[in-house]
Amino acid sequence: MGVSTAQSEGITMSGGGLYSLATVGAKHVIDAATPLVVEAINALPESSFNNGFTLSDMGCADAGTSLSMIASAIEAVNQRVPESPVSIVYTDQPRNDFNALITNVYGLGPFETYLDDRANIFPLVSGTSFYRQIMPAESLNIGFSATAMHWLSQKVCNISNHVQAVGAKGDELQAFRQQAHKDWRQILMHRAHELKPGGKLVLINFGTDEKGQYLGNTGGINMFDTFNEIWQSFVDEKRVSQKEYENMTLPQYYNSVEEFSAPLTNPDEPVYQAGLRLDHIDTRVVKCPFAKDFESHGDSIQFAKKYIPTIRSWNESIFLNGLCSDRPLAERRELIEDYYGTYRSMVENNPEGHGMDYVHAYTVISKVE
Ligand SMILES: C[S@@+](CC[C@H](N)C(=O)[O-])C[C@H]1O[C@@H](n2cnc3c(N)ncnc32)[C@H](O)[C@@H]1O
Repeated sequence: MGVSTAQSEGITMSGGGLYSLATVGAKHVIDAATPLVVEAINALPESSFNNGFTLSDMGCADAGTSLSMIASAIEAVNQRVPESPVSIVYTDQPRNDFNALITNVYGLGPFETYLDDRANIFPLVSGTSFYRQIMPAESLNIGFSATAMHWLSQKVCNISNHVQAVGAKGDELQAFRQQAHKDWRQILMHRAHELKPGGKLVLINFGTDEKGQYLGNTGGINMFDTFNEIWQSFVDEKRVSQKEYENMTLPQYYNSVEEFSAPLTNPDEPVYQAGLRLDHIDTRVVKCPFAKDFESHGDSIQFAKKYIPTIRSWNESIFLNGLCSDRPLAERRELIEDYYGTYRSMVENNPEGHGMDYVHAYTVISKVE
């Protein structure tokens, strides 16, 4: 009952190394998780360093945003077992831009790499989805993932009144909830197999926090409602059809702390029975770097120029794929340009309240020894 690769292959981040350049906020999110990764390494049982140390970065995109965190992880391993072999397994979907990843990890791009820090570091690359087992059983010391597991294994239905589950209602919302419930457990069960006894997961996932906040909804203008309003205006103007609009539904769900925790704290859950336990969960808001910069420079044109590409880096592929394939590709691309152009003008003309603050659950999970 595996998940077909094709089901989720429409999701791609911007390629050509643009992802990490456009999403400095995602790097801030990972940097904030570095102490949790170092603590997790410090708490690993001595025996788990036999046969070397392995860390996976699941849903790594072009790997630029996690380079500093991984450098710190390698340093922490070195403190425990000097010169221990370290394998870093980068994983993402098959259509990910792995060339950009190689460029970043091997120091051929704009970022500094950890590869020259010392000998015995082995980067490895996998195109296996985190909805499957990626690594051999009991081979993993630390499984890491940031800002990736909100992508569901499939789009369970289209949403008729919104582009994301945050605006869904009734049966549609329920369908997303159920899919997310199943998917989170599937992700964890595979990790339970991969982890060595005493191994740990540090998972930084988009979620809904205790105040009901989520990505782009922290008190200002709701970013997802803005996505939706612009597409609905395109429907009203008969530029896109209702069917195309509905096809643009993002296959995502933001779990609450309770939803993240349940399979790890309830002894009746198969994940718990497979040996995974919740060590830590907290929610954090990391400010949108572009909205923050705007507060000091006050230039709305500059703000919009930086802000729109960060949004575009993760939702353009879904919106483009939602448009009818009968339209010539050039026409589809023009609609997409108009969409982001409209959004840019909105921010330029009325910047107050726009921004994509990140809201994450920072989770540490361990496998019993
Ligand atoms: C927003 S990017 C996050 C990249 C990086 N981890 C970061 O935090 O900057 C989300 C990544 O998750 C990947 N992704 C989505 N679904 C996935 C799946 N089922 N298996 C592996 N990766 C997936 C996407 O391809 C994308 O590269």
